[in-house]
Amino acid sequence: MDFVEQLKSSVDIVNVVGEYVRLRRSGANRYMGLCPFHNEKSPSFTVHVVHQFYKCFSCGAGGDVVKFVMEKEGLSFYEALKTMSERYGVPMPKRSQYSDEDSKLRGSLLAMHEQAEEDFRANLKSQAGEAARAYIAKRGLAAETVEHFGLGYSDRSGRALVRLFEQRGFPVAQMEASGLVGKRQDGSLYDRFRNRLMFPIHNEAGKIIGFGGRALSPDDEPKYLNSPETQLYVKKKVLYNLHRAKEAVRKEDRVILVEGYMDVIGVTAAGFRNVVASCGTALAAEQVQAMKRHTHRIAVNFDPDAPGESACERSIDLLLAEGMQVRIVELDGGLDPDEYCKERGAAAYQERVDGAKGYFYWLADRARSKHDMRTSEGKVAVLNFLLPKVQNVTDQLERMTIANDVAGYIGVDPGMVLDHFRKAVSERSEKAIVRPTNLLRHDERMLLIALLTEAQLRAEMIGPLRSLQTIDTLPSRRIFQAIFALEESGGRVGFDEINGRLEEADQNLLAQTVLNADGEISREEVVAAVESMQRSEQHNLRVQLKARIGESERAGRLDEAMRLTMELQRIERATPSRRT
Ligand code: UTP
Ligand code: MN
Repeated sequence: MDFVEQLKSSVDIVNVVGEYVRLRRSGANRYMGLCPFHNEKSPSFTVHVVHQFYKCFSCGAGGDVVKFVMEKEGLSFYEALKTMSERYGVPMPKRSQYSDEDSKLRGSLLAMHEQAEEDFRANLKSQAGEAARAYIAKRGLAAETVEHFGLGYSDRSGRALVRLFEQRGFPVAQMEASGLVGKRQDGSLYDRFRNRLMFPIHNEAGKIIGFGGRALSPDDEPKYLNSPETQLYVKKKVLYNLHRAKEAVRKEDRVILVEGYMDVIGVTAAGFRNVVASCGTALAAEQVQAMKRHTHRIAVNFDPDAPGESACERSIDLLLAEGMQVRIVELDGGLDPDEYCKERGAAAYQERVDGAKGYFYWLADRARSKHDMRTSEGKVAVLNFLLPKVQNVTDQLERMTIANDVAGYIGVDPGMVLDHFRKAVSERSEKAIVRPTNLLRHDERMLLIALLTEAQLRAEMIGPLRSLQTIDTLPSRRIFQAIFALEESGGRVGFDEINGRLEEADQNLLAQTVLNADGEISREEVVAAVESMQRSEQHNLRVQLKARIGESERAGRLDEAMRLTMELQRIERATPSRRT
């Protein structure tokens, strides 16, 4: 078995897709959910259990599990295989044929980042790093913490990395592509980071893909300079510290999300290893999905200032949409997580995290503080703010419980809140699942499904079917032809093999057919479908003959007309029983 086959047979597409999409079973062999490749309100994204493929009936995205990971993570084929091999523990052969230009460039970029980190770390220990060491001391970072996070210092020269990369023979284009080096108008190169405390940023596999650089003095702007987006560093996918935190996240079944590098470091140093940060960008769905692969429970602990709170509010919607269970950590004294851990200690922080409120109560408090709750206008305003958020709760029981609690919390009649919800829920179920429509006739569909899934029946049927011209008039003719061709060549006749021989339109048709099939089909059904197809064949022959007879008569070729009429009679005698 080649590696791709081996990988595909060791992972279940339902689990892999399930890490990104909330899937619901929607048939014997089928799951559905909201499509991760476009925005939609009702699910048209489907995953087939037996044939291990996905298909969105709205946007058309579809393929196998490798394609899914490629598209979702923006990876090349080779990279997707590698990622999956690491993530799901299916060892990849060392010397693989799946290498390409793209992954060679990534290899160079990774090497440059590794060298940069080494260089930064050496600087920090050298004489040039004195100011940076003083800053570290001022921030109260222990030597082991500095080591653990690989902190370093980018010197003042502005040429150190350029020189290093030149020595190692990296071409200018690669230097630029790394984001570590910039190019002036006159073509000369310079280091992007100068005189900064450097925080390496890793991908989930633990490879360095970028840096954040903190200014050492308050008047040096910006406070943090970060690597730009590069081929390695796609910001919306990366969480700072996830590669170190993930084990603890799994073990504790909870992730703590903070805003800053320094928060991650401070909280980790206090003994909490399950902490990550979004690196200064607004939280993105991909980042949530990366966390969701390890836990569904999140404690959000953003800075207690206005920007932190609104970032928190925005994150809640996204986290809920991705199906996370959200709690909000609140720290008193206006302290951020880093400061809190340093000033109050680990036990106090633990208490805060354990006692974190359900996001709903946090939102309710926030809304209450903005309105006068003694007036009915105030209550209505708060209610109107909260109700749409409750509707995001996907579990119905939980939704009702929260609705009830909320009513109590803001002092309105629970009946009023619940009514609102019943209405919303019934509206929601009306526009439930979009079912793919059936393009194929019944016998055609039965035969295709049987050919796909029942090796024994396939062997019996394929002969009689192959002789039917009618097959070549069907919308699904190219699928039948692919199956016939595979069977003839003696290859495996599986979903992937058939799919691989089809153009996109026919791939869609195949997916749709398979997805519409529910449950087993019986031999009787298949036999009936073959017979029905044979009757169609007879019918078509008769129609054709009649047309030719008419044509011959009109052209005055009466001999020919007579001959064809006799042929028609012969056929009609042979199939007298039913008319089609
Ligand atoms: P903070 O300003 O809260 O930084 O920004 P911090 O990590 O807590 O650091 P200290 O304690 O002030 O030194 C939070 C995060 O926002 C991003 C960084 O990722 C930072 O960690 N940020 C902030 C930037 O990217 N650029 C900036 O200029 C500021
Ligand atoms: Mn901060």
